[in-house]
Amino acid sequence: MEKLKVLVVDDDPIVRDTLFELLTKVAGCDTETAETGKDGLEKIQNEQFNVVFTDLTMPEMNGIDLIKEVKKINPYLPIVVITGYGSIDNAVNAMKEGATDFITKPFTIDNIIEILNRIKTEPKLIREIGGQPDINLNFLNLALYKKYLSISRLQEVCVELDELYDNKKIYEKVVELGKKLLVTKGVGFLLLEKGDIKIRKSDGEVEKIFLTESNLYSEFLEKGQKVGVFKKSITNLRQICEYHEVLFAPLTINGEIFGGLVFANKTDGSGFNEEDFALAMTFAKKVSLRIENNALYEVFYNNLVNTLRSLVMSIEARDSYTKQHSERVTQYALQIAEIMNLSEDEIDVIRFGGYLHDIGKIGVKDTVLLKPGKLTDEEFEEIKQHSVIGDNILKPIKFFPKERDMIRHHHERYDGRGYPDGLAGEEIPITARILAVADTYDAMTSTRPYRKALEHNVAIEELIRCSGKQFDPIVVSAFLETETGKGNKYNDKNFISC
Ligand SMILES: [Fe+2]
Repeated sequence: MEKLKVLVVDDDPIVRDTLFELLTKVAGCDTETAETGKDGLEKIQNEQFNVVFTDLTMPEMNGIDLIKEVKKINPYLPIVVITGYGSIDNAVNAMKEGATDFITKPFTIDNIIEILNRIKTEPKLIREIGGQPDINLNFLNLALYKKYLSISRLQEVCVELDELYDNKKIYEKVVELGKKLLVTKGVGFLLLEKGDIKIRKSDGEVEKIFLTESNLYSEFLEKGQKVGVFKKSITNLRQICEYHEVLFAPLTINGEIFGGLVFANKTDGSGFNEEDFALAMTFAKKVSLRIENNALYEVFYNNLVNTLRSLVMSIEARDSYTKQHSERVTQYALQIAEIMNLSEDEIDVIRFGGYLHDIGKIGVKDTVLLKPGKLTDEEFEEIKQHSVIGDNILKPIKFFPKERDMIRHHHERYDGRGYPDGLAGEEIPITARILAVADTYDAMTSTRPYRKALEHNVAIEELIRCSGKQFDPIVVSAFLETETGKGNKYNDKNFISC
């Protein structure tokens, strides 16, 4: 970068001398000074400067008048206004007249370097967007607008990424977001697997380049470069040579590279620039962090689930008749969910919540829970509390709102006469309506202290009898189609619920 020639115009000798010292000795500029606006203007008329620093209040010609005059001579000469603390209005007025920037007293060398860097960068920015160094404002506005667009895209992409908790879906989503962010024809998500680099997910032209040039990807990973671009021509089947440009950004956890993102060919045909590098790196860091967080969450989630399952097993161990009840109920409920085409999220709720549906029984006295004979009304009221207790056990853990709903409502009845809240029909979460059928079927077909297990057909008959009253008829109907529900005389029949 060539040495900047700078003019300082200020009637205050302390400010003038300080700026002269900082600009010359620290910032390495070729600096001249002037005591008044008039002197300054004279110098500008006779010499070429790259930037002017000027005070606003000066004898003979003030700063605003100096700016106006300078603009007549050289409209593109950057002028930085020196203002006192609390005089921002003056600076704004000066910028309306054409000043480029302002600096507030007292200033530091860092403030000055920052301003000089901005002034040095502007012509480069103009070149990047295809303009001439001496044609500025519109181009600068365009550059600013382009930067605004890319920062907006980055922000949008980061928000979407922050909501991605499932590592199974992350590859596809990252590829989609990466394409949107850098506006490229292709994006690939690479993973290092046992020393080999593989495309986990890609879109667009990445695969074709990968097949012929996979060693280049490996090179990037081995070298651990922060970010890099390689350009390659590939001859296709019709012997036409295609020119490709690929930007690579590594994915890391604790400084270890575990994969990378590749961006192939900008859609508008331009090459990748420094801004693309910065965007790709920021995006790759966010993706790495998301994956790390998700992995930590999964470990935590699995530990928590295992702990809660142990708790359920300890409850079931108290009563040999209910052993593995929760596991069977979960399996039956999952079969129904599959027949009913429930969403993946709802299936996950059943998979986790099914095991825990009776966790609230830990709060019920053994004398009631394990009583072999008929329960009194009072004892039955106590048993009924288990769905609310289960909900309360999971309440402090913020991750399971839908599971809590299912647990709380698994003893509601379709006709609204269940507990604890008397919900009816579709007010009851579908997961709870399914669980109610699975739970009742298992209870009926298991031996209890006070009765033997019912035959499969008898249990099915009972479910059908209570369909539309205790149970959602659609759920009962779905149950009849499951592996467990099959093999009964009601199969392939449209039954009328009583
Ligand atoms: Fe229950």
